[in-house]
Amino acid sequence: MTMDRMMIQGTGTPLRGQVSISGSKNAALPIMAASLLSEEPLNLHNVPDLNDTRVMMDLLRDIGAQIVLREPQDGELSLSLKSPQNALNPESPMAAARKMRASVIVLGPLLTRLGRATVPLPGGCPIGARPLDVHEDALQALGAVIHYKDNALHAFCEGGLKGATHRLRVPSVGATENAMMAAALASGTSVFHNVAREPEIIDLADCLNAMGANVQGAGTETLTIHGVPRLHSATHTVIPDRIEAMTYLIAAALTRGDVTLTGANKDHIQGEIACLHAMGFDVQAINATTLRLNAAEVQPKPAQLTTAPYPGFPTDIQAQMMVLMTSIAGESRITETIFENRFQHVSALKAMGAHITQNGETCTIHGGFPLHGADVEATDLRASSSLVLAGLVAQGTTTVGGLHHLYRGYVHLPEKLQACGAKVERLGGGSYAHASATGF
Ligand code: UD1
Repeated sequence: MTMDRMMIQGTGTPLRGQVSISGSKNAALPIMAASLLSEEPLNLHNVPDLNDTRVMMDLLRDIGAQIVLREPQDGELSLSLKSPQNALNPESPMAAARKMRASVIVLGPLLTRLGRATVPLPGGCPIGARPLDVHEDALQALGAVIHYKDNALHAFCEGGLKGATHRLRVPSVGATENAMMAAALASGTSVFHNVAREPEIIDLADCLNAMGANVQGAGTETLTIHGVPRLHSATHTVIPDRIEAMTYLIAAALTRGDVTLTGANKDHIQGEIACLHAMGFDVQAINATTLRLNAAEVQPKPAQLTTAPYPGFPTDIQAQMMVLMTSIAGESRITETIFENRFQHVSALKAMGAHITQNGETCTIHGGFPLHGADVEATDLRASSSLVLAGLVAQGTTTVGGLHHLYRGYVHLPEKLQACGAKVERLGGGSYAHASATGF
């Protein structure tokens, strides 16, 4: 057991207070990669200061990009990223790429800008096979030739990518982003069907269009991209993190507390709010960016949910919902359809006293049995936050290890919970992000 752990005292005290929502990790990563598409600077605001965004900075620097960064304020970074043609090396070793699955997002931009790219095979959360066939098929439709060698993906295209019509086998988020960025500089028009519709896709399209691209249909099942010869400088503010917002709303519901989120976007979490509503929890919109969940008087009901691509219930919120379900008397059910290995938090929750039975891709949660503190290990990013939430309501002390998963995706999680009265403490010190960035 390493010393770098989170210790949570299960006080049973309802969380009360205000939480400021950070920028979206999953929107920021592809948008940062989009800077590879232009000679001119891309200025970004509301980039969350996380291990994953720091890894993406390392990766872009490996490739030759120049990054100027304002030191973080409240976990938020402002970046200026510039990718001069003669500085870029699409076959650099990219050591950072293996640290994060989302690294594959540099493939489309490099290929379309420079005609070739070699990307080491990515890492990330160990939540299943996560193949890249949908990325490959989309890029091949535009004329790319792809092969694997030495644990890396090699791609090239002679004479540049050419617009084409293609249907994605599944609406993969990353593949949609790669295809969109590749097509932005391809010659002619590309039409992609069965694309992902997540808010992060719309944010990337908005950023690309601000850079001079012509992307239409983001948020629908079909993207139409009229290729342009070059992109130019732009300034963009990343959308709020809907997964983080839901994690804190669930924490409020779980502790029967009263928490107000600032800097959130209700439109991005309509389905999840409806799910909470069906359980008896109401989310009140104070204004366009402020949401409040007051669970003090709620007598919640069990629920059933199935994860699905947006606008379905996000797989990234499934683990946190499972913890909430353990607190509600009766039988709840979760079916996971996106990743085949995303119930790894179940054994840790059982070690804390949860009554959960798993049958293939469905878990039945027999709620209402009190949890007790335990020493548990986080196995992936969202599992890590679910275990911290479980610790808030468990009797006694819980410690959570495997914190590197948590630091990939949650800005200042202990501090945000502490501000609402939780007894959460980081053991073993260390800082969230590694100090590889340079400021000015
Ligand atoms: C993104 C999110 C991640 C979220 C996931 C699903 C980022 C950085 N990460 O991951 O937090 O959990 O969407 O909402 O945005 N698949 C294939 N072949 C492919 C690509 C994907 O079979 O080429 C499968 C995957 O194994 C998975 C499903 O499609 O079963 C969805 O994956 P995808 O949408 O690509 O997820 P990511 O973009 O990796």
